[in-house]
Order: sequence, then C-alpha cells, then structure tokens
Amino acid sequence: MSRTPKKKELKAKEIKPVLSAPKAEPKKTSGPQLLRGMKDILPAEQRYWDFIRERSAKLAGAYSFERIDTPVLEETKLFTRAVGKYTDIVEKEMFTFLDAGEESVTLRPEGTAPVVRAYINHGMLNLPQPVKLWYLGPMFRYGRPQSGSYRQFHQWGLEILGEAKPAADAELIFLAYTLCKELGLRVVVHINSLGHPGCREQYKNELVDYYKTKRSQICDDCKRRLLRNPLRVLDCKEEKCQPVKQGAPQMVDKLCDEDRNHFMKVLEFLDEIDLPYQLNPYLVRGLDYNTRTVFEIFAQNSDESISSSALGGGGRYDDLAELMGGRPTPGVGFALGIERLILALKEQNVNVPDPQPPFVYLAQLGDHAKRKALTLFEEIRAAGIPATVNFAKDSLKTQMELSAKLNVRYTIILGQKEVLDGTVILRDMDSGVQEVVDRKKIVDALKKKRAAESFDLNHKE
Ligand code: HAM
Repeated sequence: MSRTPKKKELKAKEIKPVLSAPKAEPKKTSGPQLLRGMKDILPAEQRYWDFIRERSAKLAGAYSFERIDTPVLEETKLFTRAVGKYTDIVEKEMFTFLDAGEESVTLRPEGTAPVVRAYINHGMLNLPQPVKLWYLGPMFRYGRPQSGSYRQFHQWGLEILGEAKPAADAELIFLAYTLCKELGLRVVVHINSLGHPGCREQYKNELVDYYKTKRSQICDDCKRRLLRNPLRVLDCKEEKCQPVKQGAPQMVDKLCDEDRNHFMKVLEFLDEIDLPYQLNPYLVRGLDYNTRTVFEIFAQNSDESISSSALGGGGRYDDLAELMGGRPTPGVGFALGIERLILALKEQNVNVPDPQPPFVYLAQLGDHAKRKALTLFEEIRAAGIPATVNFAKDSLKTQMELSAKLNVRYTIILGQKEVLDGTVILRDMDSGVQEVVDRKKIVDALKKKRAAESFDLNHKE
C-alpha cells in the first residue's frame, strides 16, 4: 500500500545546493548544432524571401505558368538516369539512403527530373500543349559548403514541356533575366548550344582527340574528365588548363544544320527584344539531360566582372521525357538559386522594399482588457483592416514603442477604464492626437480613415 511521504523524507531527496558558485562562465553544453552547409532563415532575412517569392510568383503567373510542388524525396534512379551517372551531382553530391523498405531514395538535388516525372505520371501529355509549370522549393546537394553554396538551398524554376520551338527557349531566358531586373540586380546572360546527342557525340570525339595531344599540359581532373565526361574539361578553372581550353574545338562550329538553325533563331529572338547576352563556347552545364540551348545568368559586379558562380541556369532537354519512359516530349527550363539572388541583392546594395506596415496596432492594458481585446482584434481583422497585436506585452510604454517601430498609422489603446466605459482610445501615430471612440463604432471609424488615406494617396500629384 502506498503512503504519503513525510515532510522529512521529502527534504532528504532534495538536490543539494552547489557549495561554491562557479567562478568562470559555466561551460556550454554541446547541444545539437546546425548541420554543415545548412542555413536557418531568421526573421530578419524573411523580407528578402518575401520579396523574391512575391515577384517571382507574379511573373510566372503573368506568363501563364502554373505552380507545381513535387516531393523532396524521390527514387534514386530518377536522378541517376536523368541527371547522368557521371555528373558531379550524381557521383558526389546526392543525399542518398536506404529507406525502411530497403529502397534507395534521394533528396532531390534539382527540380527538372521530378517535374518531368510528374508530367509523365499524371498524363499531362493529354493536356493542351505546351504545359508550363513553375516551382519554388528546397533542393539538396552534398557539395563543399562555401559562400553562396549550401547543402540545402532553394530554387525558383520554370519548365515548358511539349514545345520544341526556339521561341520557348527565348521566353525562358527573357523570364530569368526579367526577374533579376525586377529585383533590381545587374546581371549578364551567357548562352551556348550543345546540339543534339548525335552531333555532340561527334564533337566529344574531336575534343578528346585534341586534348589527348595536350595530356602533359592539363590537370589530373581534366585527365579524368576526358575518360568519364569529356565536355566538363571546358568547365575547368585551373590556370594550367586555360591555354589548352582556348585552342580547343568549339561546339557551335560543329552543330548540324538543324541545331544551328534553332540556335540562330533563339539569338534572333533575344536580339529582337534587346536582351543583352554573351556567347560562351565553354558553357557546358553539369547535367547530362541538356540538349541544344544552354544558358546561365551571372551577377555583374561594379567593375563589370561577373560573379564566380551563376545565379541560375537552364536549357533544353528534348530527350529527357523519353529517357524516363514517357513519350518523346521536348522540354526547356531554368532555375534560379534564391540564396544566390539574396547574396547578390546584398552585394549590389539593392534596397529591398519593406513589407507594407499594418494599419493599426491594438494595445491592451491589464487582464480584463486583454480578454476583451481578442474579440475586438478579430472584428478589425474580419473587416479586412491590416492589424497587429502582441498579447505577450503588458506595459503601455513597451506597446507604444512597438507600434512606433512597426510604423503603423494608428494605435488603439484599450485599458481597464475603457473596457468599463465601452470606449477605446484611438491615437494618430503621425500627429500624436488621441480621441475617445465608442467601442461599437471603432471598426467603422478605422474603415473611414483607411478609405480617406487611400483616396489621398491616389490623388497625390
Ligand atoms: P543548376 O545550374 O544545377 O540547374 O542549378 C540552378 C541554380 O541553382 C544555380 O545556378 C544556383 O543558383 C543554384 N544552386 C545550385 N547548387 C547550389 C548550391 N549548392 N547552393 C546554392 N545554390 C545552388 C538545375 O538545377 C536545373 N534543374 C535547371 C534547369 C531547369 N534546367 C532545365 N530546367
């Protein structure tokens, strides 16, 4: 049978106080840490994200792209097949593991392969073509973390499926460029054509033959690339390899008539809309699915040099759907990296607009007022008036400081006295003038003030 312990027994179990207070700072326990290459997006950073999310969604909508969200986890073979076995992404950078059912799964390193999988799985081929889709979400690559490169990062991507015409390539290059411009960034577009696999294979052989004659002048990485993924030698940044690279045959000179025609038409479109671009014969991209047009977009520094890593990139992938077991479907798309866009906004000192401040702050004093304030706050919100409140704050001074910091137009003050009188105090934050308003009439009064202000705003010269 249990019995209530006596007071004395309870005391004996109490933890003994520390005899002498520690002289130095207590040692920090090593609690869980952020994983390498991962990043918390703290409240202060959110306005950059809101800015990019808002502008990118508007732009995609204006050009009739529809949003798609695919899972972050996919079958590993989706990426080995689509992105390519011998690419850096698949060889070194995938977060791959066996799930509880012993199936190999991978956190998506990019968004194009999942979108094409969804296009095939959901029979989007039967929809009116082309199908235009956009996405914004996290991607994962287990690369070496450095400035602008993370193991979890985010992409805004646009894909057009079921359209082979060069106008689609130009539309996408234009949209990538336009988003950067609308964000206020100085950027430059680099463009190249990789042809279709047939003419590219021939070019690869010529490239390998040329590099073989220069073996003693190239780095070990390039020697390895020649065996596994020869086009990547053109991407090498080693000083030693630059002279060899400059003398290498160029893909654009080896394009078949059809591929050359396609590329010329893309460039004509870009000329027509006055979009500045640079032909870059060394642009090869790191994804095997690319065919024909490829492009990357770089931030332009004040000395006209360009950022070392691209803000975004994309191109055609006309064989991807078929490779993944679907019907032959041409495709073209791109993705911009959000973290890199934010870095560029900061480096280029772009003024990101502050979010629109709420119109009214509701300050409440004392428990009784707090209880009444919740109903009043919901009435204000239901009337569509942008409002904010912070029930964790008690003193009037703190709340007035907060409402000033938030830059609201009006503050409503609800104290004990006002609750008893059935009133509220309405303070104009610009003039400091306060008036007592009947509690039942406050929502209408706010509506009128808001209407008057938007009238003034619209009729300012
Ligand atoms: P990507 O060039 O591999 O293309 O990636 C596009 C952009 O994602 C890069 O330019 C960069 O801004 C960002 N990004 C890539 N890796 C990282 C990283 N580790 N940390 C931060 N940002 C990164 C693709 O992913 C293709 N799916 C694009 C595409 C769409 N092609 C056709 N359609």
